[in-house]
Amino acid sequence: MLSPKIEKALNAQINAELFSSYLYLAMVAYFQDTNLSGFAHWMTLQSQEETSHGMKFFQHIIERGGRVTLEVIDRPQFEWKSPLEAMEAALEHEIYITKRINDLVDLAMDEKDHATASFLQWFVDEQVEEEDNANGIVQKLRMIGDHPGGLFMLDRDMGSRA
Ligand code: FEO
Repeated sequence: MLSPKIEKALNAQINAELFSSYLYLAMVAYFQDTNLSGFAHWMTLQSQEETSHGMKFFQHIIERGGRVTLEVIDRPQFEWKSPLEAMEAALEHEIYITKRINDLVDLAMDEKDHATASFLQWFVDEQVEEEDNANGIVQKLRMIGDHPGGLFMLDRDMGSRA
């Protein structure tokens, strides 16, 4: 069984993951609007991944005999000055999610909930990848600067994400 504290925190994380999905969907719309279809494709997959993260928490709560409670999903930002600014916002958001996951692990330890601590380990590893992916794109965009040719090539690469 889940302790009430853990149940509440896991439900809050469903909301955080679904907000991530929503934020990245706003970025899809922004990238489409700026004719960066490769970036839009990459972010569409990212948004879908976030929904699946939310569903992992959903399933864990159910499997442990808890109750899922769904809250309002905040309105995300949907306008950025440049692709770089949008990807920096994505990286910043992933760093925030990593902190949330780490806090959840701390709470699971405090509550001696080993099953939740074990479940969260997947997310600990996933966040390393999430930050690395976003950071890699930010670094490339910084290198590209104001060169449209570089942005064109990066957009093409991002369109090949499977
Ligand atoms: Fe679900 Fe991108 O962290």
